[in-house]
Amino acid sequence: MGLPEELGDGMTAPGVTMTDGRDGAPWSPAPSVPAPREMLAALLWRLYAFGRWRLLAFAVLAAAGAVAEGAGLVLLLPLLRAFGLAGQADGTDGLGLAAVLVLYVLLVVGGAVVVRQRMVVGARLRQAFIDDQRVGLHRAVLGLDWAAFQCLRASDLTQALTADTGRTGLAIDMVATLVTTAVTMAAALVVAASLSPWLVAAALALGLAAGLLSRTLSRRSASLGQAQVRTGRETQGALADTLAGLRLVKGLRAEAARADRFEELLAEQARLALAFQRDVATRMVVHRGLAAAGIALGLGVAVRGFGLAPSAAVVFLLAFARLLQTGLRSDQSWRTLVNMLPAFDSVDRLRRWCAAHAEPAEALAVSATPAPRLGRDLVLEGLSFHHPGAARPALDGVDARLPAGTTTAVVGPSGAGKSTLADILLGLLVPTAGVVRVDGAPLTAADRVAWRASVGYVPQDAFLFHDTIRANLLMARPDADEAALWHVLEQAAVANVVRALPQGLDHVVGDRGGRLSGGERQRLALARALLGRPALLVLDEPTSALDGANQALVLETLANLRGGLTIVIVTHREEALGGADQIIRLEAGRRVE
Ligand SMILES: Nc1ncnc2c1ncn2[C@@H]1O[C@H](COP(=O)(O)OP(=O)(O)OP(=O)(O)O)[C@@H](O)[C@H]1O
Ligand SMILES: [Mg+2]
Repeated sequence: MGLPEELGDGMTAPGVTMTDGRDGAPWSPAPSVPAPREMLAALLWRLYAFGRWRLLAFAVLAAAGAVAEGAGLVLLLPLLRAFGLAGQADGTDGLGLAAVLVLYVLLVVGGAVVVRQRMVVGARLRQAFIDDQRVGLHRAVLGLDWAAFQCLRASDLTQALTADTGRTGLAIDMVATLVTTAVTMAAALVVAASLSPWLVAAALALGLAAGLLSRTLSRRSASLGQAQVRTGRETQGALADTLAGLRLVKGLRAEAARADRFEELLAEQARLALAFQRDVATRMVVHRGLAAAGIALGLGVAVRGFGLAPSAAVVFLLAFARLLQTGLRSDQSWRTLVNMLPAFDSVDRLRRWCAAHAEPAEALAVSATPAPRLGRDLVLEGLSFHHPGAARPALDGVDARLPAGTTTAVVGPSGAGKSTLADILLGLLVPTAGVVRVDGAPLTAADRVAWRASVGYVPQDAFLFHDTIRANLLMARPDADEAALWHVLEQAAVANVVRALPQGLDHVVGDRGGRLSGGERQRLALARALLGRPALLVLDEPTSALDGANQALVLETLANLRGGLTIVIVTHREEALGGADQIIRLEAGRRVE
């Protein structure tokens, strides 16, 4: 079976390698599989940083459980002797049968209670940690710089926030199992060593050899794990694309092709998961065979050659069987852990990348910075912007002055930089050169976010959340009353549409607003923008989805708003130019009028 590295080129997710908006450093979820030990060190460090006391509590409980178990095994000696199974006395017996039995039961029950506690503490630690990972990544995504965000694929984020963090949880379970088994094994070793140090030494040598053997296979489990993360991401991406573009898929009669692609990816996932399970199962057989042979040989030599007492031999066998069982389990846990680690690595990498591309922290403290007032004018000085990875700048030294209360139309052919200019006015993109001045003061990184609260925006592809019309509108101003909602709906020429819906304002608009027409969505987006009582209203092709009558209504609304509001309207439509006080004509990023 081919190693994951040998997966065909077709398996490489498009768009996973990207260029950073500021320093040009590419981001890749996993350029190559890091060494398992490095990923584990990173996970342990994160766990430690997240909850060192909980981690400590877990380790203490694991140790206590193992000690109880070891003591139970040691007690077997006097127990066997009491039953007359022991050979010569070895000077430890002073306890009666009843006392030994009671002690034994107490130890087992006590040990079980400790184990229960350990399981609960472990589960709590795991759940809290993965939730922390999710919350951290989610917040990091929300705080991302806009240009950097555009370099990410949304489905990659979904995958990271769900499946990959889930796999991280499994990795933590495995770390917990490994810690427990290590302590249990140490206890069993002590018991065994007290009976026959030579046998224990031989067993340790055997274990060491098995450990060395498994090093190469660890790498393989890690690359399989990484391929699983990658295939999972591609599956999620393919699914998201199919669902978002289902209308197109049906129109193009591409259902079969989409189904094939999804099933191909699922089959690949199954193949990788099976390959991993097969590895684990095969190694289990080999390990068991080797260990059984080792025990048989060692025990034979010990009883015949060194005259080990039969009672000691039985206890030894029990201790050794326990050792073997835990040894096997820890090998499986290690393999599973190594298989899960790439998922943690991928999430962690993404989170660090997001943190490195965050908007300035002070910018996010919206309440701390008052929004700059727009009373006089908005001035653009030598504005340039270069999209990450683009061949040429989208904007190149644009100058303009937008007096407050006037309407400016931005026109130009497709790709001229109109939407890029709108994004800069919104405070979403930071110009690569030049400055935006609000009443003379340059818009700094710190007040860019606050500035957004003063800007109403109607995007080129109007987006509505899967919620009611009311909820969608209230996002702009949560304390707006019913009258204010109807007022902006009237202004945006969509009140009649809402009134005609059986549920009215409580109509659920569907995914991305899909249960409404494009023009209705656009007008609702305008109503939402107006509800926010903006100082600046930016509209990107606000009438592109409207018929003549509705376009006239919206343009009339904009004309009525003139004087009270500074408006920037990006448009291809000549009809929209009539109401404009000035026109900014862009061509290939430069202002030509
Ligand atoms: N996220 C991006 N990454 C890379 N290049 C981009 C990105 N967004 C836009 N561009 C490029 O920047 C240029 C300007 O794009 P912009 O969206 O501003 O054009 P536009 O004038 O709004 O066009 P249209 O009229 O088609 O909407 C185009 O060449 C476009 O390909
Ligand atoms: Mg555009």
